[in-house]
Amino acid sequence: MSDFSFRGDGAGGPLPGAGENDADGESVFSGITDAPSIYSFNSSRDGLALLRMIQGRTFNAQNDLYYLPADTTEFARQEKEHFAHLVGLGRLYVEHENVQQILSLVDGEHKRILDLGTGVGSWAIGMANEFPHAEVIGLDLAPNTACANTLPPNCRLEFDDFNLGLSHYYNSCDLVHCRIVAAGVKDFKWFINEVAKCLKPGGMLFIIDGDHNLLNSKKEMQDLAYGSGGPGQSWLARAIFEAAITLQKRGSDFDARMKLYELVSASPYFEGVGEHVYLFPVGPWEKGDTPAEHQQRQIIGILERQSMIDAVHSLKPLYIHEGYPAELVEQFLKGTEKELNELSVHMYTKWFYSFATRNSVPIQDQNEAPSVETNA
Ligand SMILES: C[S@@+](CC[C@H](N)C(=O)[O-])C[C@H]1O[C@@H](n2cnc3c(N)ncnc32)[C@H](O)[C@@H]1O
Repeated sequence: MSDFSFRGDGAGGPLPGAGENDADGESVFSGITDAPSIYSFNSSRDGLALLRMIQGRTFNAQNDLYYLPADTTEFARQEKEHFAHLVGLGRLYVEHENVQQILSLVDGEHKRILDLGTGVGSWAIGMANEFPHAEVIGLDLAPNTACANTLPPNCRLEFDDFNLGLSHYYNSCDLVHCRIVAAGVKDFKWFINEVAKCLKPGGMLFIIDGDHNLLNSKKEMQDLAYGSGGPGQSWLARAIFEAAITLQKRGSDFDARMKLYELVSASPYFEGVGEHVYLFPVGPWEKGDTPAEHQQRQIIGILERQSMIDAVHSLKPLYIHEGYPAELVEQFLKGTEKELNELSVHMYTKWFYSFATRNSVPIQDQNEAPSVETNA
């Protein structure tokens, strides 16, 4: 079972200590309150180590593999990225006819949506509002507890590590969504099969992630900046590329996110596998063919620019922890801000939206979770 859960049925706020600075920089603090309507303790696992401070930012303390913050600054960034995707898609999900049919209200049927790595929870909350008859669970190493007051009554957030296995959700979900979680996935092949087991036959998986290679305005690989940089080179592209290498070295199955379609196709548990690919401008540099399209591309560009600048800030503790010189990290930050604010480099992020339908093949085995280093 998940260790802690909270739902939108009472007053509350962020976990105590979340977002506060810590003098010694790397201590662990407790996030438990005894307010049972907000946080319920369901496990014998020691719950005194949900969050920790690193270099002045709050991190999850359950899993060392995912080395990005879980604080108000990072949640605000995730919200911007969420809205970029919402504007880009025009809705919360692709394959909308299938989704609406799967989640339609049917007498005697309980509909359940699971959002793995929910983070700020914007997608889960949006789905709970759109499908008020469905139960929506947002699972995360460190979900955004600050939204406890505003969660719809059919939405619940849980503290959990999906790398430890999801057998408590087997055969129970109509839709499973995982967006931009690759940095926390230990083994994608295992993960996709584990997620499949959570679905009822006919249920759908949506797995979404981005390419760590940014594209230039010709939709070719963007040149990275080295040394003191140069015309047409990008510090943002360099910073994201370095983060990808680093995360992979630390044990994330990061490269796999560019092969989601192949990985889902290879699973014995899926049929009807497909993928949509989207390019989002980073900054409001792209023109649309119609006034409406132009406006949409501008909004996406502005949100994507803000999200990318904030992302490099969120990655700073990782670079420092992995031994990148402080001056180079500063160059990543300053160079990114300058090139995006001046719109001197025109780039796209590339997003893979893979989807599949759970077939009726019964669960073959209860897979062991891959070994994951935890510091809880
Ligand atoms: C980049 S954020 C994306 C948040 C959200 N899915 C979205 O698209 O707005 C990645 C999230 O995945 C969560 N995560 C990473 N590894 C995880 C794991 N092993 N178990 C549960 N959550 C995890 C992180 O804590 C973080 O909140």
